[in-house]
Amino acid sequence: MLQHLTRREFLKLFGVGAGALALTGLTGCGVAPFLSGAAQPVRTNSDFVPDVELQLTATDTQASILPGQPTRVWKYDGAVLKGDPANLQAIPSSYLGPIIRAKHGQKIRIHLKNALGEPTIIHWHGLLVPPEMDGHPRYAIQPGQSYIYDFEVRNRAGTYWFHPHPHQRTGFQAYAGLAGLFLISDGEEREANLPNGEFDVPLVIQDRAFNATNQLVYVTNPMDQMMGFLGDRILVNGQPDFTMNVGTRAYRFRVLNGSNSRVYKLAWEDGTPLTVIATDGGLLEKPAQKSYVTLGPGERVELWADFSNRRVGSELKLKSLAFSGAESGMMSGMMGGGMMGGMMMGGGNAALPHGAEFTILRIKVDREIKDSTTLPERLSAIQRYRLDDAINHQNPRAFGVAMQRMMTWTINGRVFEMNGVANDEIVKLNTLEAWEFVNQTNSMDQMVHPMHIHGVQFQVVERQIAPQFQSVWETVRAGYVDEGWKDTVTLWPGERVKLLMRFEDFPGMYLYHCHNLEHEDQGLMRNYLIQA
Ligand code: C2O
Ligand code: CU
Repeated sequence: MLQHLTRREFLKLFGVGAGALALTGLTGCGVAPFLSGAAQPVRTNSDFVPDVELQLTATDTQASILPGQPTRVWKYDGAVLKGDPANLQAIPSSYLGPIIRAKHGQKIRIHLKNALGEPTIIHWHGLLVPPEMDGHPRYAIQPGQSYIYDFEVRNRAGTYWFHPHPHQRTGFQAYAGLAGLFLISDGEEREANLPNGEFDVPLVIQDRAFNATNQLVYVTNPMDQMMGFLGDRILVNGQPDFTMNVGTRAYRFRVLNGSNSRVYKLAWEDGTPLTVIATDGGLLEKPAQKSYVTLGPGERVELWADFSNRRVGSELKLKSLAFSGAESGMMSGMMGGGMMGGMMMGGGNAALPHGAEFTILRIKVDREIKDSTTLPERLSAIQRYRLDDAINHQNPRAFGVAMQRMMTWTINGRVFEMNGVANDEIVKLNTLEAWEFVNQTNSMDQMVHPMHIHGVQFQVVERQIAPQFQSVWETVRAGYVDEGWKDTVTLWPGERVKLLMRFEDFPGMYLYHCHNLEHEDQGLMRNYLIQA
């Protein structure tokens, strides 16, 4: 009977009306801000001479998103204090923060100013920076304080991003608008001769929910917190019903899934394959053709979008196709139903269910452009790790994600501890390791978890699926782009994913966690320690 409860049914069972805990606007959130103990801005190191110096102020402001009343949002306001003004590029009329553009090897100083009414801190998602520059929640700063980040850009060219990371408030703050892209360029990328300038287009996809007066709604009922928040309006670069005009030529699309918990299954509406040229950690070795791309929260993918054979006046939609299983099994297990997860469709009863089909954006080909830019056959060099070279290849470090007690997500049975590191979370600098994320611990509590590791870029070397989840997995698996460098990997119900990573940058304590931000805030996050 109870094998498939919708969100609304769940709330009734728990005596919560669906709208009762919906918060309008951004004040009076039900979750008390977590007050970090040590909130000391790090002293600047006088040996560090920045090439570029920026300021980002986290502010409480307004943006025009829907027709009519403006929406209260939180936003990173940017300023270039030193260096080329082109190091920051605002996204016009968007709540999103400015795009930071940096070159490999540059030394960057960024002053974060907290003009909010609660603690915050920024994490540079995907960047290889020292632990004290990584935005660990223990460095959260109080209202009115500043934090100074000094780091050298070590990453390959690629599409990285930044967002808040204060414990238990990451989901809320990112949802309120605090996020931006961090784009890195390098010589190898220049040689690939990709579309640039106006033909290099950032596309940040997020889902939001609004009330009748255009204010953001972030539902904090127990169900949304446990499953992850889903909005019913799809925004691209902060705009609803996003439409872009293009010419008849090739474009570089940099796609970030900046949503709190929604997975997208990207595809062109007419069935043209997607041409993927980069993942989280930069360019692939060569372009990959995919009939669709599965993109979890925090993940990025770059597409080569060629409109040179399209007619002026034609249109094309980028869609998210239907899939199943994102929330499979959850309710059946909790309610004592014996059904296996693979039997259920996910998505509950959210206004726009997880796995529903919808349009993300519309493209209008509105002009002829004569251009001979062609897709390069080779994009970059990637050094392939070999499983045999991992120090633990016979016994990979395994991290099982499971719901331990009712409504508590855990990793190997543990929840986040601000300074806690367990014995099986200690690695050695300059070693290559195999890690496995496992979403198979039992059949009752499985949903999709986009797992993110700070401090490294890794390679995905193997995926296995439990037999009862095979059928739902088939709705997403062809969309994984495991060919390139990754910092976030989508872990489907029933999956076991094997990664290889080398800890070669900095010793110290870093996070690994689920990038479903409601899961992260609940404690589906742990520290790991890189020992020198
Ligand atoms: Cu994008 Cu620890 O997060
Ligand atoms: Cu999760």
